[in-house]
Amino acid sequence: MTDLNSRYGMNPPHSEVVSACQTIAPCNALDMGCGSGRNALYLSQLGFEVTAVDTNPNALGMLQSIIEQEGITTLTPELYDLNRASLDDDYGFIACTVTLMFLDPARVPAVIADMQARTLPGGYNLIVCAMSTAAHPCPMPFSFTFDAGELSAAYAGWELVKYNEDLGTMHNGAQLQFATLLARKQV
Ligand SMILES: C[S@@+](CC[C@H](N)C(=O)[O-])C[C@H]1O[C@@H](n2cnc3c(N)ncnc32)[C@H](O)[C@@H]1O
Repeated sequence: MTDLNSRYGMNPPHSEVVSACQTIAPCNALDMGCGSGRNALYLSQLGFEVTAVDTNPNALGMLQSIIEQEGITTLTPELYDLNRASLDDDYGFIACTVTLMFLDPARVPAVIADMQARTLPGGYNLIVCAMSTAAHPCPMPFSFTFDAGELSAAYAGWELVKYNEDLGTMHNGAQLQFATLLARKQV
């Protein structure tokens, strides 16, 4: 597989996307908050049919230019505000890595409910998002963070293939807790 991410000076795909792809067979996928497309490009190269949405037209433009240069036919970038929580298609895999923390906090429950409703039976959701807990208050000014146990509670009734609330260390030494979830919808 050609490494398009390094060819275009992009970071590698998120490690949780790479890890999820060891479980999930290629299908119709949505990348929520795709940025310049490091995860979407990776998924399309693995055979997923990918829709990649973001509100940043410059990032989407960069991705579109890569799609054209490479002749990729399985990746569609779209301008879409996730706060709308009104997806118009169904997917076998929806990935949302380090994006919920930039959304309107009042809309996040609706965004997650919409993701869940738009996931096909037996399909998967991947979420990675910053947390702020009593033990580890978030040192970053994100608009939204999860509290302890909040993300897993939102996926009651789904199979939690992977769930953790691990603590990481940022470049400046500050500690930041992340909720990581890979969940499968009941068939
Ligand atoms: C930290 S980047 C993460 C990008 C990508 N998911 C990744 O793992 O590399 C967050 C992305 O969320 C996008 N974003 C922020 N608010 C958004 C919104 N309301 N709707 C759609 N995308 C949004 C930003 O433009 C940015 O590309």
